[in-house]
Amino acid sequence: MVLALNPGDVIETLKRLRSEDPSYSSGEVLGSMTIEAPQYLVEAFNIFMNTNLNDPKLFKVTHQLEVECINWLSKLMHGGGYGLLTYGGSESNLTALYALREYTGGDVVISPKTAHISIRKSCKVLGLNLIEVDVDDRYIPKVNELCELIRKYEGRLASVVMTAGTTDLGVVEPVDRLVSECDDVKYAIHVDAAYGGLIAPFIAELDSDIPVFDFRLSNVYSITVDFHKLVVPVPCSALLFRNRELEELITFDAPYMPSGKNRSLLGTRSGGIAAAAWGAIKVLDTDGFRYLARDLVARAKYLSSKLVDIGVKVLNEPKLPIVTFEVDDRDEVMRYLWNLKLYVYPTSIRNALRIVVGPHITYEIIEKFVNTLRNLLVK
Ligand SMILES: Cc1ncc(COP(=O)(O)O)c(C=O)c1O
Repeated sequence: MVLALNPGDVIETLKRLRSEDPSYSSGEVLGSMTIEAPQYLVEAFNIFMNTNLNDPKLFKVTHQLEVECINWLSKLMHGGGYGLLTYGGSESNLTALYALREYTGGDVVISPKTAHISIRKSCKVLGLNLIEVDVDDRYIPKVNELCELIRKYEGRLASVVMTAGTTDLGVVEPVDRLVSECDDVKYAIHVDAAYGGLIAPFIAELDSDIPVFDFRLSNVYSITVDFHKLVVPVPCSALLFRNRELEELITFDAPYMPSGKNRSLLGTRSGGIAAAAWGAIKVLDTDGFRYLARDLVARAKYLSSKLVDIGVKVLNEPKLPIVTFEVDDRDEVMRYLWNLKLYVYPTSIRNALRIVVGPHITYEIIEKFVNTLRNLLVK
């Protein structure tokens, strides 16, 4: 007979196993967009973990937490309070492209090549034809080429996807310029602000180079913003819509549910995601998010300047807290750093490595990393 382990032993075993995976606090996780959520938000998640956001008649309070999160985020994005929480940026992007396909009847998506892989995946799942546009030598999308394609495919467009905080470099793409230069055609923009959504608005207050990308622009119909890339435990993202009609398109009939409906592509959505996002909003509020965003950007700029000091080429001075730099032999440098438990990430740019400056990347960790890299490069 197989004896089951008792719960205490299982937890002890899991704690030991967890310690064998990389640690945030000791500065090992450098390239990932994941973060170590504060304990109070893990607790917030746990309190509502077993309620269901897709059962708002049974779990009214859980539903209200989601409404309050969406209202707060919507205000930041100058929206009208439409949207929902999801399990991640990929789900938000898939849901957005689904809703926009239904809304427009289009079968073509146009996007710069810099879009996250989830856009390509979503197009494949949804049977949409994705047309990609090049970026210039500063990794900014070529707006004139985008506009030419938008005109060419007018009438067939499901969506144009722009990113606020690209995966490789943290570039906030010029959504505002696209809207003003391409104003003679009808099209709906989905903004993937999974990474930049909770950072860029606060940096834009100080830096007029950061483009406007929110609902103030009439062509913006949906925006993805991830809470779990900054402070909230995984999984927690939000998808905002311009109007109720779009929100209704992702509400499906579900006769077996008390509300008769299912909102989102999922069946059960843990209430934990709403409680954790709500907890972060209550504790940090807008000023706390502003402080965090500016602090992370300051640290990223510090890292960037330190890398430049040791002769490393940084691609684009960081506007958001992502530092991407070039090395001669990326595979070898990566292998060396990974052997030292300094887990930097590759990018889609040749020979470029990425560090995402999350809340766990302190100045001390930055110093340690730069010293290690300098020692390698002078060898
Ligand atoms: C710009 C952007 N969008 C979407 C995603 C996907 O987010 P998730 O991993 O939460 O699905 C990422 C992840 O890195 C991203 O960088």
